[in-house]
Amino acid sequence: DKGNHRHFMAKEIHEQPEVISHTLANLIDMAAGRVNFPDLGVDLSKLSRVTISACGTAYYAGLIGKYWIERYARVPVEIDVASEFRYREPPLPEGGLAVFVSQSGETADTLATLRYCKSQGQRIASIVNVRTSTIARESDAVLPTLAGPEVGVASTKAFTCQLAVLAALAIALGRARGAISAELEQELVGALMEVPRHISSMLSDESVYEALAHDLSRARDVLYLGRGVNFPLALEGALKLKEISYIHAEGYAAGELKHGPIALIDESVPVIVVAPKDELFDKTVSNVQEVAARGGQIVFVSNGESDEVGCDVVAHITIPDVHPFTNPLIYAVPAQLIAYHTAVFMGTDVDQPRNLAKSVTVE
Ligand code: M6R
Repeated sequence: DKGNHRHFMAKEIHEQPEVISHTLANLIDMAAGRVNFPDLGVDLSKLSRVTISACGTAYYAGLIGKYWIERYARVPVEIDVASEFRYREPPLPEGGLAVFVSQSGETADTLATLRYCKSQGQRIASIVNVRTSTIARESDAVLPTLAGPEVGVASTKAFTCQLAVLAALAIALGRARGAISAELEQELVGALMEVPRHISSMLSDESVYEALAHDLSRARDVLYLGRGVNFPLALEGALKLKEISYIHAEGYAAGELKHGPIALIDESVPVIVVAPKDELFDKTVSNVQEVAARGGQIVFVSNGESDEVGCDVVAHITIPDVHPFTNPLIYAVPAQLIAYHTAVFMGTDVDQPRNLAKSVTVE
């Protein structure tokens, strides 16, 4: 049932405030402002490494998790797409923690990687949306996303719920290892609890996305740029756009632009820039100016002001000011809405895009 929405994807985007709240409530002691994490069966204070593997959008969630865990828990994280990981058969540390991220819990490559990690003595934790799935059953510990059924082939609410769990995991690891103080934990937990309210406010008016859809629908190629923890969002934004609008889109780390992709830029190429005002904002802005100097059409997604970019932009998607820790959860929403409204404008089959299946159970 799509409710009042035209597509399941729209319904699922709009469910995010509620399902993120549920997912967080399961892992956070709201009154104490602390993470209340289930026992994963390993001593988190002694872990030498965390290994993460997944496919597609779930992999991008894992990539954001890597930035968070390395920053807030100071534990090295190895991550790879499951289809590479399983055949690479990397050496793994004794007693390590391996984390698998999957909406369906049935993705063949992710499951094969889980089995490899198990054979190598890893403790297996999975972040899954379907509690009865094979990946959930074969895991030592399950960290559920409480997103409810996701029908749209393009993953939206499952992704942000995966981020909510990974954010809580980073805090839990940080606490266990003494890498974050009790005050910082409260600050980060408080920031997470604010996320649903901010997302609701962003979903109250989508007219900027409808207007932008006209421009994007004419593009043959779109570039998506981000830096630091928001770089994986550029990858996710590009994947969403490809999947449902069939426009060729590529995500790049903003600093990589001058190492090749800048050759693609001319007046016909929209460049969507994920640019929260964090400590990397100035670096990202200087990359934007390089693009603008070559005629690229800038779509600025930021809580900063348009005049801080120092060049013309074709659109400014204004994002609320939030704690930088939660930026990936917040900036996921414009990535979804840009793809959704462009696809709707172009008349594609948004919920059931060509050539794609909801769950990839073959290799
Ligand atoms: O069910 P899973 O989370 O394991 O699925 C992984 C990918 O197949 C999935 O995220 C895919 O990339 C989506 N269509 C993205 O929107």
